Amino acid sequence: MIAEVAVLEISDLVAQWDERTGERVPVRRAEVVDRLHAAGDARAARIVRRMPVTGEFLDPVAVDRLLIRVHTELQRLNEELHMAQRFAELLVPMLDVMRARGSRLRVVDIGCGVGFTVRSLAASGVLGPDVELVGVDFNHALVAEASRLAQDERLPCTFVRADAFALAEAATVYLSCGVLHHFAADRLPAFFRAQDRAGALGFVHYDIAATRLAPLGAWLFHRARMREPLGRHDGVASARRAHGDSVLLSAAAAAEGMDAFLYESFRHTNPFCAAMRPVVGLRPELVGDFRRALGRRARRLVAG
Ligand SMILES: C[S@@+](CC[C@H](N)C(=O)[O-])C[C@H]1O[C@@H](n2cnc3c(N)ncnc32)[C@H](O)[C@@H]1O
Repeated sequence: MIAEVAVLEISDLVAQWDERTGERVPVRRAEVVDRLHAAGDARAARIVRRMPVTGEFLDPVAVDRLLIRVHTELQRLNEELHMAQRFAELLVPMLDVMRARGSRLRVVDIGCGVGFTVRSLAASGVLGPDVELVGVDFNHALVAEASRLAQDERLPCTFVRADAFALAEAATVYLSCGVLHHFAADRLPAFFRAQDRAGALGFVHYDIAATRLAPLGAWLFHRARMREPLGRHDGVASARRAHGDSVLLSAAAAAEGMDAFLYESFRHTNPFCAAMRPVVGLRPELVGDFRRALGRRARRLVAG
């Protein structure tokens, strides 16, 4: 029997954080290169071998600059895939239901990167002026860049550093974009459980749909839209490691106080790109009103 080798993303390996303190952990370049070789990914190993070091450790400033560049390029993909509109399609009816019940409305984007989703939603104002928008990410440099971009445009949103598994930021609704595949399948239940325990009323987590065409679509799209070798590599790796529907729905069941669904968003789907598809969760008492608020689109909600 051939042992299955995990697909690795370079971005997960070159910046490491202490889970308890949030402080940066120095990363030995040779260790990352060895891990990538062991995973059979010589191309990724070559990309990392070219990255600058201080002594034997990857230069953290150079890594941050690179990750900011890659996430800035990723923003183009998010624009192309209409990610802000896709989120709004679900968040507007979801927040309407919560607003009608007098809930405080606070949306927190987990793993926000340079904050494209939050900044877009803040710029359009589509969710309403009573909705507080916050982005959180593990990576200090990305949070700082997201804050800088938001301040530049005087957008009503904030960004803070936080870990997806120890959520310090309370939310009415948690969302994420392109983050689920960064967590191994056996860690996903803890991700969903953390949101349930934090008392959220709902969640919307978009990630790449695990289809056979996804790696090809991702290759085409990252080739056309991204210049950094790291971004091009990780884009395809993301599609290869995307979780299947049943993995996502059974992990989402760990949020015991929520009902979970997949949602097929045809309106914004570009057939030439890797498709994005969300897992949606909601407190059971809100599901009926949410379906009514979605109208005909409620047919696209698929329960686990
Ligand atoms: C592929 S990027 C997506 C960024 C952004 N959502 C976007 O669509 O452009 C994944 C993000 O998840 C963040 N991340 C990974 N693990 C995390 C964790 N445990 N807690 C918070 N953020 C995390 C990374 O720092 C990175 O910014």
